[in-house]
Amino acid sequence: MKVLLVGNAAREHAIAETLTLSQRSVRLFCIGELANPGIIRLCQKTGGEFFRGDINDPEFVAKKADSISPDFVFVGPEEPNFHGIPDTLEDRGIPCIGAKRAVAEIEMSKASMRDLQWEYRMPGRLWYKKFRSFEEAVPYIKEYAESIALKPARQAGGKGVKVIEDFQVYLQEEKRELKFDHAKTIVDFMRAYDDVEYKLLIEERVWGPEYTLQCFTDGRCVKPMPAVQDNKHSFEGDLGPESGGMGSIACGPNLKVAVDSEESILTMEEYRASVEIVERMIDAIQRKTGERYHGVVAGQMMLTSVWGPTIIEMYSRFGDPEAVNVLPILKNDLVDVCEAIIDERLNTVKLEFEDRATVVKAAAPEGYPERRDLAKGHPVFLDEEAVSRLGVRYYWASVDARPGEPPRTGGSRIAEFLGIGSSIAEASDLAEGAFAHIELKDAWRIFHRKDIGTMKTLERRIRLARLARDIYTYKARKGVLGKRLIWIPGKGLMEAG
Ligand code: GLY
Repeated sequence: MKVLLVGNAAREHAIAETLTLSQRSVRLFCIGELANPGIIRLCQKTGGEFFRGDINDPEFVAKKADSISPDFVFVGPEEPNFHGIPDTLEDRGIPCIGAKRAVAEIEMSKASMRDLQWEYRMPGRLWYKKFRSFEEAVPYIKEYAESIALKPARQAGGKGVKVIEDFQVYLQEEKRELKFDHAKTIVDFMRAYDDVEYKLLIEERVWGPEYTLQCFTDGRCVKPMPAVQDNKHSFEGDLGPESGGMGSIACGPNLKVAVDSEESILTMEEYRASVEIVERMIDAIQRKTGERYHGVVAGQMMLTSVWGPTIIEMYSRFGDPEAVNVLPILKNDLVDVCEAIIDERLNTVKLEFEDRATVVKAAAPEGYPERRDLAKGHPVFLDEEAVSRLGVRYYWASVDARPGEPPRTGGSRIAEFLGIGSSIAEASDLAEGAFAHIELKDAWRIFHRKDIGTMKTLERRIRLARLARDIYTYKARKGVLGKRLIWIPGKGLMEAG
């Protein structure tokens, strides 16, 4: 059978690998903007082909698909969903694993996602305000002297999100200026996007451990995968600018410390509550649009003191690096799962994963994520054999391979290394070994986060989860879950808002 994959990052390399491990003898074809050497090799090995081109151009993708006549197309990243690639393909009778434009709205417009949550009174909804311009936001920022999260109201590859803590009254003026500056930066940067009405989103600031819950869905049912915890900050200790993800951990459904451990970041109850939230989100977007959701959906969540499981954002696709945690331990044949999605009989599939801990660590060129211009164009040497000898799996990410030359960095993450073990700490140590075998030939620096998956980081996350849990379970017992309470002198405890 023939499968066409759209996308060229490490996530797509993992999807490509899993598809080609199918019992169904897959010929893999791929369209990517940069030539990922790992995906190219899989295409060649299976008798398929890699095409370079604009993955967000529906006409181009549809023409390529027409010439290949694939049994189905698998869309990896979000932008092709936002550009209607799955719609165009399905209009031509080519089945597609990928969210159509209308249902991908839950990722593309963060404002629409919050509107939907409030309209359907879903648990895990946060207070928010949406703005079309900077000027519209000014009176609100002036008046609302609280900690807030400022976000571009459209998915923009994780760029631009900033949380501003505003606790000290004597710093309120300075904090307000900071909020104005960042709101302006977001609105300026959002000028590049004319496909959403709202440009800026201000949300209440929440805290707690974050995690991603990825699921397959055929629109009728949702099949959840193990929860994964991504590490968005560029530098160790959760410092530095937010990146697309510097690495991620998973073990069991609920982020256990080890396969045989009782200790975990989430309880099973919290995991199930998170699944229910994603199910409700799928149900709501389908009702709203009348469109079926076929593909992968993910809740990028946080265990907050306000709600317990809370949606921070939605993805209309696998996360990257989160896909690399789950796909290599998927026991099912991915082609069978895709066919069940297309035929809307996913309820007949028993989705199973190996009971292993997985840790992914990304290698990034200096300059990423804020100066991608500097991070781009450096020749990469990866000793693939040495990495494989360690028992580490590697997934090429943003690199561009040209015949007869070393691949060059594309400005984002270079490669992702996957350690699989019986505990997160063991898998982390294993992945760590790979970094001795990658370098940039022009001596430009590569950085990564050593702290991902260490016991110290895990213990910190578990403590944070306990704190959030103590508060939200107390609120639940008192019947005030999801409510924000303030103390007004002379009046007592009141519900804010
Ligand atoms: N890991 C974050 C993302 O996939 O957007």
